[in-house]
Amino acid sequence: MRTDTGQIVYLADYRPTDFVLERVDLTFELDPQNTKVEARLIFHRREGTDTRAPLVLDGDELNLGGLLLDQNGVPAAQFTATPESLTIRDLPESKPFEITVTTFINPEANTQLMGLYRAGGLYCTQCEAEGFRRITYFPDRPDVLAVYTVNIIADKAANPLLLSNGNFLGGAGYGEGKHFAAWFDPHPKPSYLFALVAGDLGVVEDSFTTMSGRDVALKIYVEHGKEPRAAYAMDALKRSMKWDEEVFGREYDLDIFMVVAVSDFNMGAMENKGLNVFNDKYVLADPETATDADYANIEAIIAHEYFHNWTGNRITCRDWFQLCLKEGLTVYRDHEFSADQRSRAVKRIAEVRHLKSEQFPEDAGPLAHPVRPNKYREINNFYTTTVYEKGSEVTRMIATILGRDLFKKGMDLYFERHDGEAATVEDFVKCFADASGRDLSQFSLWYEQAGTPLVTVSGAYDAAKSSFTLSLEQAIPATPGQATKEPMHIPLRYALILEDGSEAKPVSISGAEVTGDVLHLTERAQTVTFTGISSRPVVSLNRGFSAPVNLHFEQPMADIANIARYETDLFARWQALTDLALPNLTRAARAAQNGETATCDPAFIDALLATARDESLEPAFRAQALAVPSENDIARELGGNNDPDAIFAGRLGVLGEIARTGIDTFRSLSGAAKANGAFSPDAASAGRRALSNAALGFLAHAEDSPARAAEAFAAADNMTDLSAALTILSHRFPEAAETTAALAAFEQRFASNALVIDKWFAIQATAPGKDALDRVRKLMESAHFNAKNPNRVRALVGTFAFANATGFNRADGEGYAFLADQILDIDKRNPQLAARILTAMRSWRSLEPVRAEHARRALVQIERATGLSTDTRDIVERTLK
Ligand code: PHE
Ligand code: ZN
Repeated sequence: MRTDTGQIVYLADYRPTDFVLERVDLTFELDPQNTKVEARLIFHRREGTDTRAPLVLDGDELNLGGLLLDQNGVPAAQFTATPESLTIRDLPESKPFEITVTTFINPEANTQLMGLYRAGGLYCTQCEAEGFRRITYFPDRPDVLAVYTVNIIADKAANPLLLSNGNFLGGAGYGEGKHFAAWFDPHPKPSYLFALVAGDLGVVEDSFTTMSGRDVALKIYVEHGKEPRAAYAMDALKRSMKWDEEVFGREYDLDIFMVVAVSDFNMGAMENKGLNVFNDKYVLADPETATDADYANIEAIIAHEYFHNWTGNRITCRDWFQLCLKEGLTVYRDHEFSADQRSRAVKRIAEVRHLKSEQFPEDAGPLAHPVRPNKYREINNFYTTTVYEKGSEVTRMIATILGRDLFKKGMDLYFERHDGEAATVEDFVKCFADASGRDLSQFSLWYEQAGTPLVTVSGAYDAAKSSFTLSLEQAIPATPGQATKEPMHIPLRYALILEDGSEAKPVSISGAEVTGDVLHLTERAQTVTFTGISSRPVVSLNRGFSAPVNLHFEQPMADIANIARYETDLFARWQALTDLALPNLTRAARAAQNGETATCDPAFIDALLATARDESLEPAFRAQALAVPSENDIARELGGNNDPDAIFAGRLGVLGEIARTGIDTFRSLSGAAKANGAFSPDAASAGRRALSNAALGFLAHAEDSPARAAEAFAAADNMTDLSAALTILSHRFPEAAETTAALAAFEQRFASNALVIDKWFAIQATAPGKDALDRVRKLMESAHFNAKNPNRVRALVGTFAFANATGFNRADGEGYAFLADQILDIDKRNPQLAARILTAMRSWRSLEPVRAEHARRALVQIERATGLSTDTRDIVERTLK
């Protein structure tokens, strides 16, 4: 394992390599413990570079087994090999030369799951970001693009399947029970997109005819017996391929597209050229074992990885600072895809919920960084919600500012101009500037300045002049390394809604640029005047969440309630309901902190229940409305000195009030989804289930009895309903006999399905209260737990730390101490996983002082440990700073 070198990489230091890599020929002789890798690399010296410069190749825990230069041995004095690099001197000045590097690696010992490793009897690779250097010495950086040939030799019985990128060239026997296969990928690619998979798997096959009429073979490989559970992923893949042709004009470019599901994987999935590797969690689904959320995730992630074929693979990143160039853009594309496949408004609400609960806290804490960072110590730690989700929002804002047609023109220009290249964020933005003629230099600050802008707004109506003025001010909070900020270009969609419910059509607008329904806030403070406004308007601002900002708008509650009921933009209605809910929730939390109770504003409960009952609205939207802001949302709103127990108690009180007031509504809504016959994972059916289960949750509060949830558990014919009922039982009635019985029945029924057992872990790990820690500890002893499998660890330890505010933030600090022990243990095997879970501590400074001190001590305990990985050291030090 790499332990910390303290080295920091800076964007400003970028320079191209001295040598150009022309071709790569790899031969793998697979063996679980001793795989031989022979890499033949053809280079030439880049024109204009120093003719004496040595060739320096990256390695990570490598052993050089052999080295040839143009097929000849290399004298010891001419090269230096360490586990981290191979330096070769005195290379030809101008003519191409061939380096042959041999390494021996041990896939079975590779517990960090980077490079070539073993996963459930398979050989599998993960190379992004810097995993290829764990396979062979190589210029392992994304701006080195080459054409690869790959030969794989392996035991035939154990590995009937030998896969790599590109098109299949051929295969044959190889004596002694072995066989080999050769693959050729004609598209130049960086090493992080290399993949190899070997083993014995089942396959689901289909095909897709592209827009120019080419047939592409589609194959999804899963464990034998699980083929039926890959059907939904295959369907999502075909829909993704079609959508990318129709919406972005992008066609697939190989004869075959493969997806392999593996059980041990650090992330969600990986877009290796022509051979995507997936965490099996995001491939396998059937009604009995997958929830509606699982189906939606599978659809989104299959699409995401497929879309990378153009945004990431055909056009890749010059360096890892440009990560958002592929990730932010590709998330934007998968969001748009899901919006087109499902309900756009509901999808947008879910995105914003996720952004606010994950990215906003990141941007407000010690790990805040720009969408395009300018330095890093460990790139693995920058696969963040800021790079992904805020990166997507930044792309969305370009589309909002330019409008649909110019955005499309800019995208087309990007594909045309940079196909086959390793590009930068500047290249990307320039395409939109060139396509539209708009100056986007101020807009580019979104890539450079971290922190969520705060926009403070007030409005004033002048009846005598029939004019309305909106005063707006922006402020961007200080973030690590960025004390002061420049004002940004913030595109705010808006509507001025008149008394009769119609939208005002101002005679004139001054004080800001307005294009269509977009108001461009570009200065620190701006006063915008609208004339010809016949009555005091209700302002609906940041419609559709057009800009990822915090809005402080001292708006009359009655206005917000009107938006909640009558806005035509559904997102705005949901936002208004949230704005009505939050003051009630924060008031209740503060009261609880002082040992008091608060009661809710009836207008809030009325608006909420009216929405829940409104049959003209889609059920999925009504379910979103009923999902009142989370404990984390409340903590964020409170802003500091937070007591998670008080937040929980206050929120529980509010839920109880809603439940009791709306008991009749909830009785009629719960179970309503059942009327619709056989299970279908489509969005409308999922929405009905979500609404019915939300109602069931409220009924548990109102009736204060596990009976109804226990009945629902017994009656459930799909995993969505089953897990919803089990969650209510174990979170609301942890001591009830019904709960114990349901947990046992669930465990027994799904004992052989690890992905479902992960739900069983997660449901128990999120049961609130101080007993949670003991429960988690006990579950770690269970035969189902496996500390080596990232999904298991995330489901139990990760979920506990991220999603159990009261249990994890126990007042005695035991939750933090437990996490510290776990992190130190996980770090020894899998640094990426340890560092990722440790980010659960990122908001420790906003806790009340006693908890904050316990948290700090746990962090210091980690910081002081010896032999910490670079990954974990980077996170712990930044978190403590
Ligand atoms: N690039 C992957 C994606 O699609 C994520 C990933 C990063 C996977 C690093 C593995 C390792 O977002
Ligand atoms: Zn991605």
